[in-house]
Amino acid sequence: MSIHKEVKRITTHILQEMKQSGEKISMLTAYDYSMATVLDDAGLDVLLVGDSASNVMAGHETTLPITLDQMIYHAQGVVRGATRAFVVVDLPFGSYQGNSKEALSSAIRIMKESGAHGVKLEGGTEVVDSIQRIITAGIPVMGHLGLTPQSIYKFGTYTVRAKGEAEAEKLKVDAQALQDAGCFAVVLEKIPAALAKEVSESLHIPVIGIGAGPHCDGQVLVVNDMIGLTKGFKPRFLRQYINLYDGILDAAKAYIKDVKANDFPNEKEQY
Ligand code: KIV
Repeated sequence: MSIHKEVKRITTHILQEMKQSGEKISMLTAYDYSMATVLDDAGLDVLLVGDSASNVMAGHETTLPITLDQMIYHAQGVVRGATRAFVVVDLPFGSYQGNSKEALSSAIRIMKESGAHGVKLEGGTEVVDSIQRIITAGIPVMGHLGLTPQSIYKFGTYTVRAKGEAEAEKLKVDAQALQDAGCFAVVLEKIPAALAKEVSESLHIPVIGIGAGPHCDGQVLVVNDMIGLTKGFKPRFLRQYINLYDGILDAAKAYIKDVKANDFPNEKEQY
């Protein structure tokens, strides 16, 4: 049960309090108004307009093709649907790396044009300049380490990251650097649970896990995976709460049958 059920709007300050009090933070992705209204009604603390929209909304193989304009479009709908949740928007690939001025102008566009409450970006020490510049403008930044899908062509695979000592050490240094740079939270994706535990305990900012075990301060999933819309995608870390793919399939088949049989609309369904 949330001690923050009655708050008007979740803030970074409240997320920090949740970490301190041990209340786990619930986060899901959302990409449109309708889904955001349901998730907000359910009481999600954070809605992430993830660049996974590139996969689950647009059908791309990776997150790389989605543009800043497209992210803003998704974010606008989510912000209109979320009255309580804190809305974070991913900075898409190519909108922040290697140029902190461009990072700031991308973040400002997201905040101004969508009304979101913060941005997320991937990477560690190499993006600290961009993070600091964005935060200086008053924009909350969430970090993202471990399996960072925008680097998929560097990794070559979506398998678990930081299993080896060198990569685990680098991740710990990166996590500390993100906190020192002023991030309000950090996502850890697909890393060993023991490493995520160590990082969660060493940072004072909230750590949100996806495929990172139960010791993080909160959990995030891609909503389409969690509601069973992404057919055939069943990694070990995913818990599917409903099978909407089969539900919608059955509904669509029933509709086709009714239309073909001239059974829809009936007398009550007309004017
Ligand atoms: O884009 C996304 O959905 C994400 C989550 C996997 C954390 O970054």
